[in-house]
Amino acid sequence: MRKRLVVFALLIVIVTAPLTLAQKVQLAVDVSRPGPKIDRNIFGQFAEHLGKGVYEGIWVGPDSKIPNTRGMRNDVIAALKSLKVPNIRWPGGCFADEYHWRKGIGPKRAETLNPNWGGVIEPNTFGTHEFMDFLDQIGAEAYLSINVGSGTPQEAAEWLEYLTASQPTTLAKERAANGHPAPYKIAYLGVGNESWDCGGNMTVDYYLSQLKIYSRFVRNFNPAQSGNQQMLKIAVGPGGDEPRFIEWTEAVMKAWQDRKWSWDMQGLSLHNYTVVHWDDKFASVGFGETEYAQFLKSTLEMDALINKHSAIMDRYDPQKKIALVVDEWGSWYKPLPGTNSGFLVQQNSLRDAVLAALNLNIFIRHAERVRMANIAQMINVLQAMIMTDKEKMVLTPSYYIYKMYVPFQDATFVPVTFNAGAYTHGDVSLPRVDAVGARDASGKLWLAITNLDPNQSVEIETTLTGSTGKSAVGETLTAPKVDSVNTFDAPNTVVPRRVSTSIQAGRLTLKLEPKSVTVISVEQ
Ligand code: AHR
Repeated sequence: MRKRLVVFALLIVIVTAPLTLAQKVQLAVDVSRPGPKIDRNIFGQFAEHLGKGVYEGIWVGPDSKIPNTRGMRNDVIAALKSLKVPNIRWPGGCFADEYHWRKGIGPKRAETLNPNWGGVIEPNTFGTHEFMDFLDQIGAEAYLSINVGSGTPQEAAEWLEYLTASQPTTLAKERAANGHPAPYKIAYLGVGNESWDCGGNMTVDYYLSQLKIYSRFVRNFNPAQSGNQQMLKIAVGPGGDEPRFIEWTEAVMKAWQDRKWSWDMQGLSLHNYTVVHWDDKFASVGFGETEYAQFLKSTLEMDALINKHSAIMDRYDPQKKIALVVDEWGSWYKPLPGTNSGFLVQQNSLRDAVLAALNLNIFIRHAERVRMANIAQMINVLQAMIMTDKEKMVLTPSYYIYKMYVPFQDATFVPVTFNAGAYTHGDVSLPRVDAVGARDASGKLWLAITNLDPNQSVEIETTLTGSTGKSAVGETLTAPKVDSVNTFDAPNTVVPRRVSTSIQAGRLTLKLEPKSVTVISVEQ
């Protein structure tokens, strides 16, 4: 009997052993075939007047006990500076189409309501000057969303004159009296937001008539913004792959192709959240491998969506003059229990870090067309970089992905080929590995490699063509569980750690932990 038990136990070991062995994946990196520039703007952020995204998240006011600079909390500013945030989209979202900028300037601010998000009081204490000061403090550019839904072309045109006129017009003098004599730079202008839905339920023909008017009259007067510094106008684009959105992209691109001299646009927006079941969304914590696998499967659909809309754009714009701007994306879960459901508060776990890396990789592979993207949303809302609770602040797993990917900003795409293998759980099958490469201005090679498999490590062997790797260093982000999070009390559960690599005979090898994202730099 004892003998039979030992044989049985041995059999179990033999049968299960391969499951715990590291999988091997070969990466071929071709440095001799550089691709397009990876626009730093794909690492953009989004800050809507929604929940604690702006109030408390950024703005605490100059009299707050929370250390601040002109009302902006210092801990958040420092954390965002490390991300080298290229641009911030503001003030919405749905909020933008009900925002009236005059209520947010000058010494006396109007108190209004925020009907989209919890119906709370909007104090307007964070307005135009505060937003521009915030950008200045972190070194980001402005992506302003103008009110097309409930505003007028005159209101939007006057906002831009107020912001950008250098001549002493009445509006420019008002700006100076409010503390900023020099014209502001507005790099990007969003002409409406989801105009097919919360932005006014417009048909595409109606929207196009508005786009042409706003594009013509909302001018940027800043003399420094001519030529290649011109403000780029981004039209409302699709929000999925349903027939109405395919028609939307077709119609806007056709209108652009047939445009007259008197209007133009430089970008088309795309919104796409990762949500499984809008009516009964997944939880952001306390989930297992099944929800991990299903959610990642859903997020990978971003690639097909971009392919679909890019193919339409290619027909009207083969030279890729119009950027596809994915200016709302990220995970969307059930609100955390006990929070105002209009505040869209969710936790941010290791799953979100993997999700962020997979989407950034998709944008990087589409670098020629996707030249801007804004994760939703920067602080305390949806897939946030940072969470706060009064004076406390914590950096999320998604924050660390953005930090690790900083070297990819404005780097040159380098093709990486590999056989991804498969990670299968139940009826979900996903690529086990994903990877992208880039070369920065100093010539350093960067590789970002994700191991989606939560159970097995992966041994990576990399061969380089067109270069000889001399040394490599890197960091990896992983955690004990797929739903591990950073909390105010335990902020270091999901933080990057050094990873060891080796280069021998030109081959770079490293081991990827299960459910991890690794970024390495290679000196050549
Ligand atoms: O990011 C939250 C909301 O999602 C935005 O306000 C809106 O544009 C989108 O529907």
